[in-house]
Amino acid sequence: MKILGLESSCDDTGVAVFDSDRGLLAHRLASQTIHSEFGGVVPELAARDHIRVLMPLVDRVLIDAGLEGQSPDGVAYTRGPGLAGALLVGASVGRSLALGWQIPAVGIHHMEGHLLAPMLEAEPPDYPFVALLVSGGHTLLVDVKGPGRYQILGTTRDDAVGEAFDKTAKLLGLGYPGGPAVARHAASGHPGRFHFPRPMMDRPGLDFSFSGLKTHTLTTVNQCIDADGPLNAQTVCDIARAFEQAAVDTLSGKSTRALKQTGYARLVVAGGVGANTRLRAVLGDAVAKHGFTVFYPRPEFCTDNGAMIAYAGYLRIAAGQHSQDSSFEVKARWSLEDLPAVML
Ligand code: KG4
Ligand code: ZN
Repeated sequence: MKILGLESSCDDTGVAVFDSDRGLLAHRLASQTIHSEFGGVVPELAARDHIRVLMPLVDRVLIDAGLEGQSPDGVAYTRGPGLAGALLVGASVGRSLALGWQIPAVGIHHMEGHLLAPMLEAEPPDYPFVALLVSGGHTLLVDVKGPGRYQILGTTRDDAVGEAFDKTAKLLGLGYPGGPAVARHAASGHPGRFHFPRPMMDRPGLDFSFSGLKTHTLTTVNQCIDADGPLNAQTVCDIARAFEQAAVDTLSGKSTRALKQTGYARLVVAGGVGANTRLRAVLGDAVAKHGFTVFYPRPEFCTDNGAMIAYAGYLRIAAGQHSQDSSFEVKARWSLEDLPAVML
């Protein structure tokens, strides 16, 4: 069964074809660059760019997958959560293609896509596992008993961790998107110069809070400016380092706690911040100490992509969870816990 996957929930247009017999046949991504001058994603511009890019990308991916002139067996698109206008582009294109081809279509939860992304790798995790989902809009610890069987163990009370990376980058004058820029500068930072708090680690439970860390960055920036004038390049790196270390120590600490609480031995890390190399190093130390196994998607599938949507779509269409309706709705907000289970 060959499933076409479409991702358009934010500022990346992703298209892929997943084949249940042969795995991933093709995938392409178009990342929007128009938002950098505004310091964040502008929803209306994102939607317009998806309209411009999506169909040409579908044509290219079908050719790459050897499906030129043929239809796949189903279409999966991201139904939510995300920017409503951007989601509507993928949903309307996905539904229209399915109607024209007379094949089933299914709307996929974006975060389910992320948490299933490691299933595209050579050594996928068995169920059950704990998923740490860390993106620009979400910070979640999820008990994953099987596809569609999700229980949220912890979430952020304020900013998502990717958002905290992006805001820290802005405070340090590093531009948007900020996560990779903070990580790059942190690599040249001195580890001992500043110490940032590890938010919520002193309290029981699995929730996160990152707004205090962002405020701590702001206070540190202002103190350095008062003392020395404009931030010098080394100070920027040192602050980036202290922020990154505090953020990833917290993610690792809470993930270890979630594994202890569930008794599971497998951790899946996905979403854009999962590409962070210091997070991977700190989790590597936790693996050595506590003896669990950690699974990541390849870095290009940590961030938004069509492959994860095609895979999740395959599972749900194979389980009969699809429709051929021409009517559809998208969900800007949507809990993972509201999804139906998929029987394997
Ligand atoms: O999953 P994703 O591509 O999109 C959302 O669904 O939000 O995640 C994007 C987030 C952004 O906040 C970006 O700054 C962050 O992931 N990010 C990183 C890194 N690469 C992307 N954060 C820290 N280190 C990175 N290497
Ligand atoms: Zn995402």
